Amino acid sequence: MRLLHLSLVNYRNYVRLELDFPTRITLLQGANAQGKTNLLEAIHYLATGRALQAGAERELVNWLALEEPLPHARAAAEIIHDHQKEKLEITLLPVNGPGAQMNFRKHVRINGVARRAIDLVGHLRVVLFVPQDIELVAGAPGHRRRYLDIALCQMHPAYCRALAQYNQVLAQRNALLRALRDQGGSPGQLRFWDEQLAEHGALIIAERQRFIAHLDMEARARHRELTGGREHLQLHYLPSFDPIYQPGGGQPPLAFSEGISSDFPPREEIASRFLTHLRASHERDIAAGMTLTGPHRDDMRFSVGGRDLRVYGSRGQQRTATLALKLAEVQVMTQETDEPPVLLLDDVMSELDDTRRQALLGALDGVAQAVITTTDWDDFTPAFRAQARLLRVSNGRVEELSPDDI
Ligand SMILES: Nc1ncnc2c1ncn2[C@@H]1O[C@H](COP(=O)(O)OP(=O)(O)OP(=O)(O)O)[C@@H](O)[C@H]1O
Ligand SMILES: [Mg+2]
Repeated sequence: MRLLHLSLVNYRNYVRLELDFPTRITLLQGANAQGKTNLLEAIHYLATGRALQAGAERELVNWLALEEPLPHARAAAEIIHDHQKEKLEITLLPVNGPGAQMNFRKHVRINGVARRAIDLVGHLRVVLFVPQDIELVAGAPGHRRRYLDIALCQMHPAYCRALAQYNQVLAQRNALLRALRDQGGSPGQLRFWDEQLAEHGALIIAERQRFIAHLDMEARARHRELTGGREHLQLHYLPSFDPIYQPGGGQPPLAFSEGISSDFPPREEIASRFLTHLRASHERDIAAGMTLTGPHRDDMRFSVGGRDLRVYGSRGQQRTATLALKLAEVQVMTQETDEPPVLLLDDVMSELDDTRRQALLGALDGVAQAVITTTDWDDFTPAFRAQARLLRVSNGRVEELSPDDI
C-alpha cells in the first residue's frame, strides 16, 4: 500500500493542492490553524468515504467556494494497492440551489468508474491518530465501536457487509418492537428479525473478538516499548451479549468487567446462542421499544496494571495507550492484509515525555509510509528529519523545505 499523490480542490482551507508523497516519511510542519489536520483528514476521507467529524459534507467545502455560482470540492489520490496503481476520487456537488442551507452530495469514482462511497473502503488503508482519539480510551463506548468498525471494515469486506445488514435489521426490529409496545400484536412477528440479527451479529461478534485478541497482543508490545517496560497494557472485549455463558448451562455468568478475550465458541455457535437470547428477551425488548443486547451495545476496555484507564488513567497514560493501539493496528492490518497501511499521525508528540517520544521515533522506523504533522520541528531529532521529506503548510499552501531551511 502506498499513497503516491494527493490533489485537493476547494477542500477546507486548500483551494488547490497537488502533492506527491515520494518518500517513506513525510513531516508536515505549520503553526496552528494552517491546514495540518485538514490534510490528514482529506487522506482519511479518501480511505473511508467518511469525514472525521460526523458533520455535513458542506463543512468540507471551502468557504469562499461556497460563494461561487457552482461550488464544488474534490479530493483525489493516486495509490498503489495490491501492486496496482489506482485512482480514488470524491467530488462534492450541491444537491440544491445556492443559499445558506446548500447541501452537498459526494460522488465517488474508483479508477474513473462511478461507485458508492462504501466501495472506497479497503482500497487505501490508513491508520489515523488525531489528538481527540484519546476519547477512544477516555470517552463513551460509541467511540470504541466506531473505531472497531472502521478498522475491521478496511481489512475485511465481509465484516462491512454484515455490519450494514445488521444495522438495517436492527432498525427494522426496533420499529417492530415499538409498534408491538404501542399497538400490541403477536411477538411471533419478531422471529424473522431475530434470525437475521443473530446471523449478521454473530459475524460481527466473532470478528471483533478475533481482532481485539490480535490487537491486544501487538498493543502490549508497542506499549512496553513506549513506556520503557514500566507499564503493562491490556485490551479486553466487552460484548453486550455474552456468547460464552448459556442460561441454565450451569456455568456462572462471566463478570463482564473482566472482559473476554479467549475461549470463544465458533461463529455458528455464537449465532445460535444469540438467537436463543433474542427469543428469550422479547418481553423486555418490547417494553423498552428497542433491542437491548447485541453488538450495537458492545464495548472494549483498556487497562494498565489491571486498572481501567478510563477511570484511573492520567491523560499522558491515556494518550500513550491510544498511540500503542494505533501502532498495533498498523501491525495487525499488515499481517491480515499482507499490505502495510499508511500511518497518519496528527500532532502526536505533544503531551508525550522524552522516553515516549524517543520510543515513538524508534517505532516509526518499522513503518512503511507515514505522514506526520507538527507545530514544532524540534519535536523530531535532526537524524529523524534527515530521512524525511520536509513540508511546511501556511494558510492552505504547502512548500517543500530542505534541512538547511529549518
Ligand atoms: N470549509 C472550510 N473552508 C475554509 N477553511 C476551513 C474550512 N473548514 C475549516 N477551515 C479552516 O482551516 C484552518 C486549518 O484547520 P486545521 O484544523 O487543518 O489546522 P491545523 O494546522 O491542524 O491547526 P492546529 O495546529 O491548531 O491543529 C482552520 O483555521 C479552519 O477554520
Ligand atoms: Mg490540527
